Amino acid sequence: MGAPGRHTLWTLCVCFAALQTNALRVTMRESTVEVVRGDYVILPCSFFTSSPLSRLNIIWTMAPFSSPESPIQVIVYDHGQIIEDPSLIGRVGFTGIPWSADIMVNDTHVSDAGIYRCMVNNPPETADPGIGELQLTVLVAPSLPACQWDGDTDAGGSVTLSCSVAEGIPTPEIHWDKLNPEEISLPINMEGELSGSVQIVNVSSQTSGLYRCSASNVLGTENCYVNLSVFSAVAGNSSGILQGVLLTLSMSLMLLALLVLMTWLHRTGQDGRWRLSKEEEDEEGYNEIRYTPSLMKRSFV
Ligand SMILES: *[C@@H]1O[C@H](CO)[C@@H](O)[C@H](O)[C@H]1NC(C)=O
Ligand SMILES: *[C@@H]1O[C@H](CO)[C@@H](O)[C@H](O)[C@H]1NC(C)=O
Ligand SMILES: *[C@@H]1O[C@H](CO)[C@@H](O)[C@H](O)[C@H]1NC(C)=O
Repeated sequence: MGAPGRHTLWTLCVCFAALQTNALRVTMRESTVEVVRGDYVILPCSFFTSSPLSRLNIIWTMAPFSSPESPIQVIVYDHGQIIEDPSLIGRVGFTGIPWSADIMVNDTHVSDAGIYRCMVNNPPETADPGIGELQLTVLVAPSLPACQWDGDTDAGGSVTLSCSVAEGIPTPEIHWDKLNPEEISLPINMEGELSGSVQIVNVSSQTSGLYRCSASNVLGTENCYVNLSVFSAVAGNSSGILQGVLLTLSMSLMLLALLVLMTWLHRTGQDGRWRLSKEEEDEEGYNEIRYTPSLMKRSFV
């Protein structure tokens, strides 16, 4: 860590600062720090003072992003004593006390993320500023997403593919892709930040195939899959239609034969009736009933 070198440098700085001004000054070497959950992190806080360190007092507070209005005291150094917050006991410690106010947090949790303030006092010296601030982000890789499908896989039906991921910081991006025959990305409807679905209407045999949902952030990508098989009800329908057509055709043929038979019978009957009509004609004169058979006869001839 080169701590002795740094201490020498700081001593020099302290002397230099003493010549310039009598106020204690805190500087943060970083304003934002990121850590992957579970890893350790060093939160840096340097101070320059020209007074002896016997009355040095350091307080680190943390305001969680989730509840910024209720900060906790992470760790305190006061007259040589160190007090840690119960929630961090065994995980937090100073790394260079009393020369530096840096702290280390081991086995980081998501709840460790927040705004950290380092306050340093070294009476009787005044502080200007005696406080520094940094932001800690705890990153989490996306968890394995859960893929689901729902709907009607008969041709013409509609299917919904849904995908949800339990965690990930930053919030994972969700994508749906169809993988075969060629890879295409699908339009997604987000339901909240952590789940997204794809609606496929009027499915056909081309809809069948392997679908992938991916959840990704800076730490990586996790995938889940749905293998969709659309039942070719279209083929079943067309054979049904064919059967129907054949049935209609044979029925039509039968009807035609019947019609021919009836016509023939009718015609033979009409001839008799025609002759009868001719005889009646003289007695009753023209009327429609008598004319109809003759018209029918002409049209069938
Ligand atoms: C953090 O872990 C390191 C190595 O495992 C250990 O040396 C250090 O003392 C731990 N710090 C605290 C504050 O527990
Ligand atoms: C469904 O798809 C078929 C062919 O893929 C098409 O002929 C038909 O018009 C579509 N129906 C609707 C309601 O979009
Ligand atoms: C998807 O399902 C089809 C038919 O059920 C099968 O032939 C194919 O191997 C499956 N593909 C994968 C990647 O599981």
